[in-house]
Amino acid sequence: MKKPTTGAGPRALKTRIKKKRGLKNSSRRWLERHLNDPYVHRSKAEGFRSRAAFKLIEIDDRYKLLKPGTKVIDLGAAPGGWSQVAAKRVGSNNEAPTVVAIDYLDMDAIPGVAFLKMDFLEPDAPDRLIAMLGAAPDVVISDMAAPTTGHRRTDHIRTMHLCEVAADFAINVLKPGGHFLAKTFQGGAENTVLDMLKKNFASVHHVKPPASRTESVELYLFAKSFKGRAEAPAQPSDE
Ligand SMILES: C[S@@+](CC[C@H](N)C(=O)[O-])C[C@H]1O[C@@H](n2cnc3c(N)ncnc32)[C@H](O)[C@@H]1O
Repeated sequence: MKKPTTGAGPRALKTRIKKKRGLKNSSRRWLERHLNDPYVHRSKAEGFRSRAAFKLIEIDDRYKLLKPGTKVIDLGAAPGGWSQVAAKRVGSNNEAPTVVAIDYLDMDAIPGVAFLKMDFLEPDAPDRLIAMLGAAPDVVISDMAAPTTGHRRTDHIRTMHLCEVAADFAINVLKPGGHFLAKTFQGGAENTVLDMLKKNFASVHHVKPPASRTESVELYLFAKSFKGRAEAPAQPSDE
């Protein structure tokens, strides 16, 4: 790796990887982008586990979904950037955590976050999350993304499916007035989930926070103010 070079101002400061290191071109480009990414530097400096933390910070600065005392469920939480932000902003603590996170990957403990290591698509994951939170959530956030296969269409379909399952979960568990935020993809088959959210929330917004790379098709859906579930109709009695 060459030392960072200074040119005309801080923007010219760039780390370059030598071609002969035996890396594929695509890996070299990824590494260079990573090493020169200001959000990566900020996440290290500010103690966040991922640059993704800044996506939630930027979305929350704009839409104010995380308030002191807010109960949050974080889907697809590892390595934990969003959970760190959520726990800090809602003031959660280990005695009575108001942030519950799930991922099938391991995640190191975060103060104020109760973690469930499990696949969210397992049938009993929703009940386990609610039992851990001990109440209905005010906010459901999902940054879940399927592992990439290299086949773009397949990746889209899998991540859209996760978004749809997360939306269905939110509609089934949120408190009235609660909010839902989830990762989606531009150009994905998102009409089903969009219709479902529009029906159940006061408003639905597409959000591309500055921390989300311009070249990435990633986008977030923010559904504001859950309208609540209709009461189940009373069953006619036999008498
Ligand atoms: C982009 S990362 C999340 C980053 C996180 N928001 C942060 O700030 O550190 C997506 C995560 O979704 C998780 N994931 C994908 N499918 C999942 C599933 N079915 N159940 C649980 N976690 C899942 C992945 O394991 C991965 O850790």
